[in-house]
Amino acid sequence: MADVPTLRLPSGESVPVLGQGTWMMAEGNGRRADEIAALRLGLDLGLTLVDTAEMYADGASETLVGEAIAGRRDEVFLVSKVLPSNAGRAAAIRACERSLARLRTDRIDLYLLHWRGGTPLSETLAAFETLARDGKIRHWGVSNFDPDDMAELEGLPGGDAVAANQVLYNLTRRGIEFDLLPGCRERGIAVMAYSPIEQGRMLRHPALAKVAARHGATPAQVGLAWVLRQDGVMAIPKAGRPEHVRENRAALDLRLTADDLAELDRAFPPPARPQPLEML
Ligand SMILES: NC(=O)c1ccc[n+]([C@@H]2O[C@H](COP(=O)([O-])OP(=O)(O)OC[C@H]3O[C@@H](n4cnc5c(N)ncnc54)[C@H](OP(=O)(O)O)[C@@H]3O)[C@@H](O)[C@H]2O)c1
Repeated sequence: MADVPTLRLPSGESVPVLGQGTWMMAEGNGRRADEIAALRLGLDLGLTLVDTAEMYADGASETLVGEAIAGRRDEVFLVSKVLPSNAGRAAAIRACERSLARLRTDRIDLYLLHWRGGTPLSETLAAFETLARDGKIRHWGVSNFDPDDMAELEGLPGGDAVAANQVLYNLTRRGIEFDLLPGCRERGIAVMAYSPIEQGRMLRHPALAKVAARHGATPAQVGLAWVLRQDGVMAIPKAGRPEHVRENRAALDLRLTADDLAELDRAFPPPARPQPLEML
């Protein structure tokens, strides 16, 4: 099995382009042990980028991730997010410390502002800088930021240190291709695609089935290979079942052809004009 390809953050650090999401894990539905096993299997397969957030399951997702990565912390590139309601200068530091305790680690590799709220960006930035100086976070970034938000952030002193923007991106949500994605790529800011298979809703589309059949692949693998076809883009599908983890990992071996891409463009047209950034 070939290594998982990586992309470079602005700092020069390499991060796997395919990781693991954890929203809707630890929801108290009896799947906890399977979810931990799925995350550990993903680590075994090289999917060492793990995405969580203080919001998910009210912190229980972070606790679950802490358990899944126990004893393997150094293998993992750990991403978590602060809620906008906790994004003030002092509050964000306290929120990060609570996340660190739940994750049972001393550092988060990439700490994101989950979405833009009412707190001035300069305050959140100041908190991120303090956290980075103290070694509690290694990189910081944002999520659900549209091009205007990015411009405002990058215009602030120190704002150009933003490492990543985590946004909704999949075949059925292509708006970012018009402006946000090329802009981030040009400036070396990683785009992290969340809900890369649209939480499963797009998997019955006939165009996906057709392309998948040509390759002996599954629709989910086509959806992931399509997201990952571009430089500067990473994806974090969530899979609580081992068979899904294996399937998603194998999507890295799928090479879509020009014909496949043209067929997918006909079924899921690219944006012809700027579109408001969608979010889930
Ligand atoms: N920043 C944000 O605002 C934001 C918003 C949404 C999500 N996220 C992050 O992005 C991650 C991924 O997004 P998501 O969880 O919304 O959606 P997703 O990854 O597009 O889809 C997850 C769903 O697809 C299923 N699945 C996974 N692999 C599959 C496969 N190979 N075949 C068929 N079904 C498969 C999963 O089932 P099983 O679990 O049963 O395997 C789960 O029900 C989240 O977990 C979270 O970490 C961030």
